[in-house]
Amino acid sequence: MPKGVVLITGSNGEIGHSLIDRIAAEGRYNVVSLDLTPAPDELRAKCLASYTGNIMDRFLMDQIAAHHEIEAVFHLAALLSTRGERDPELAHQVNVEGTLNLLRVAQQQSARLGRPVRFLFPSSIAVYGLPDVATKREAGRIGEDEWNVPVTMYGCNKLYCEHLGRYYTRYHRQLGALSNVARLDFRSMRFPGLISADTVPTGGTSDFGPEMLHAAAKGEPYACFVGPEAAIPFMAMPDAVTALVQFLDADKEKLTRVVYNVGAFSISAAKIAERVSAAFPGSKVTYEPDAVRAKIVDSWPEDVDDSAARNDWGWNPKFDAARAFDEYLVPRIRARYAKG
Ligand code: SER
Repeated sequence: MPKGVVLITGSNGEIGHSLIDRIAAEGRYNVVSLDLTPAPDELRAKCLASYTGNIMDRFLMDQIAAHHEIEAVFHLAALLSTRGERDPELAHQVNVEGTLNLLRVAQQQSARLGRPVRFLFPSSIAVYGLPDVATKREAGRIGEDEWNVPVTMYGCNKLYCEHLGRYYTRYHRQLGALSNVARLDFRSMRFPGLISADTVPTGGTSDFGPEMLHAAAKGEPYACFVGPEAAIPFMAMPDAVTALVQFLDADKEKLTRVVYNVGAFSISAAKIAERVSAAFPGSKVTYEPDAVRAKIVDSWPEDVDDSAARNDWGWNPKFDAARAFDEYLVPRIRARYAKG
């Protein structure tokens, strides 16, 4: 049987890199990648086809769908939260209109194949908006339906797209002749801040974690844009990729929600700095909080309740903070920068 095709948007980004590596290593699917910039050679080599273009380009999207029988979509392309505050209208266009365009294509593909195309959508802890640090402390681990009042354009975009996905999955064209056509199967998980040993994110507000680590590994000082007490959930990149592929395979019958929290460990900037300095003695971290970015981090929960994901589709992260640093981040990053 020929392998099914998965479409990955934002494929040159942090998650895209790791996800393509994993899917190529497992060999179960052929990957079609799409990004604004051309795929680097090593990624291109792992893909059936690589497209360069904009997710808002209807013609390009239709062309990709016409050329490939897409079984699943990982829609990773987005402008992250800090970048989104610099250009909120652009963030809306990319994050909402771009997603709508992908949903349209996936829906058409579902109708054409006569079965639901799975649509995996990484959402974020940015959909939550706690009003102040005292409330955040008191709230602790928060559930999916609490505090859905984001303070960033990115958070608003993600929250709305979760709703759009739920609509496409359950109600799209509910009135009229097309009501019996197969609908797509939208699944979303809310990621915490992600930390990868291989790449540094751009334009996010959880970037202080990975930036601190990569700076130390390179022997550079780091001025942290949040205070030492700032704490949010983080996840090691291999776990994020596991969440995506595991959720893709999850039995639809067992899913009680469309959107799930996925957690791994909660950690403050100071605790990250401690782990970083234990691994790279002499590393230099200072705190120079940026008022707005610090406030955004304060509005995100300290931890998330991910029991629904654990119960429904077996979510179980491999890396807590200690294992993330000791077994994945530090050894891999050391080897990486040693190579130059
Ligand atoms: N990590 C993202 C950001 O910082 C949130 O999803 O914007």
